[in-house]
Amino acid sequence: MKILLKGGRVIDPAQNLDGQMDLLLENGKIAAIAEAVGSVPEDTRLLDLKGMILLPGLVDMHTHLREPGYEYKETIRSGSDAAAVGGFTSIACMPNTLPVNDNRTVTEYILKRAKECDTVHVYPVAAVSRNSEGKILAEFGDLKEAGAIAFSDDGKPVMNSILMRRALEYASSLDRIIISHCEDLNLSAGGLMNEGKISTELGLPGIPTLAEDVMVARDLLLAEFSGAALHIAHVSSAGAVRMIRDAKKRGVRVTAETTPHYFTLTDEAVTNFNTNTKVSPPLRSREDLQAVREGLRDGTLDAIVTDHAPHALTDKEVEFEYAANGISGLETALALSLTLVDDGLLTLSELVRKMSVNPAKILNIPKGTLRPGADADITVLNPGKTWVVDPSNWRSQGKNTPFFGWTLKGKVIMTLVQGRIVYQED
Ligand code: DOR
Ligand code: ZN
Repeated sequence: MKILLKGGRVIDPAQNLDGQMDLLLENGKIAAIAEAVGSVPEDTRLLDLKGMILLPGLVDMHTHLREPGYEYKETIRSGSDAAAVGGFTSIACMPNTLPVNDNRTVTEYILKRAKECDTVHVYPVAAVSRNSEGKILAEFGDLKEAGAIAFSDDGKPVMNSILMRRALEYASSLDRIIISHCEDLNLSAGGLMNEGKISTELGLPGIPTLAEDVMVARDLLLAEFSGAALHIAHVSSAGAVRMIRDAKKRGVRVTAETTPHYFTLTDEAVTNFNTNTKVSPPLRSREDLQAVREGLRDGTLDAIVTDHAPHALTDKEVEFEYAANGISGLETALALSLTLVDDGLLTLSELVRKMSVNPAKILNIPKGTLRPGADADITVLNPGKTWVVDPSNWRSQGKNTPFFGWTLKGKVIMTLVQGRIVYQED
């Protein structure tokens, strides 16, 4: 099976490439990349992609797939399909399933299901602690052997500092990273949205940025002390950005991510009590949003992830207080992130670093490049195409988006995984 992708603009930061080029795919790999691939083997399928942009397949290092246990919210199949629509060819899925992915049976189950779905590459993130209860460490060695790519209790923080220290040391000895959900549960207790002027006006109990910042500070200290690699999940506050920036300057082995909702929306979006704006950490103030954007610009924030958190209607169509936290993000992430390019904050090549090259590097997976010999994982983007966000035609079962009705620019028209078209626009 050979495919020639002809005439598109190819952006591959890993090779310092940006220009009109042909890509020849053979046996699931990139066989050649050149301004004009000369001798094309017979029986090659030709795709004319003039006007399109070809990127190394996007890597989402923070997705929630909900299977096993919460298949009414999302399955490995529906989540994988949504990833393909969004241009993601690799996703790392968080362990807060039922049961929690804290043992090899669950890790192996996820990998088996993903293989059956045969859509995108799925990399399970296993739990730091048993049942993510923050009490007893999970069996990292066993989990790594089963295929766990990283460890996290995401959705919950690891409140116990000695457990977090041991987790960092243990993971480091296995060449794996800890992904930390930074939240001091005592400081955030009872809160429903960001603490500030808006929460006061709405009369909703607040979650201060302090709840995030205190834990970021602690985790940076633990990482510095242990020399272990730490990755901070879903950064939303100005304080977190500042401390991560300072820690990087000191040489701490820290990387960090944020999501489109933190650089696009503020707590003002909560004003109409739309439960699709309820997320953890909460949407923050204008100053926090500006700091997150600056963190992306200056490299403090390495990666843009979706934190794709699909929920059922029954989880969201309730009073704000009772609504589940989370935003379904796989199918809007790239278009929302492209606004950073339009706004002059990042070049397209820098954006590709944050959505493909860097997450692959952080997880240490052989992705994020279109180099000959690499898997032919490719995202084809129509940069000028505008479209309206309408979750009723999404592949994700999670229709919970605060971007309903928004007009976005830039649409994935085709996604290839190992040389196979796993998504193609009608
Ligand atoms: O909003 C969120 N939803 N934040 C998290 O940390 C967990 C996630 C979920 O699993 O729904
Ligand atoms: Zn998450």
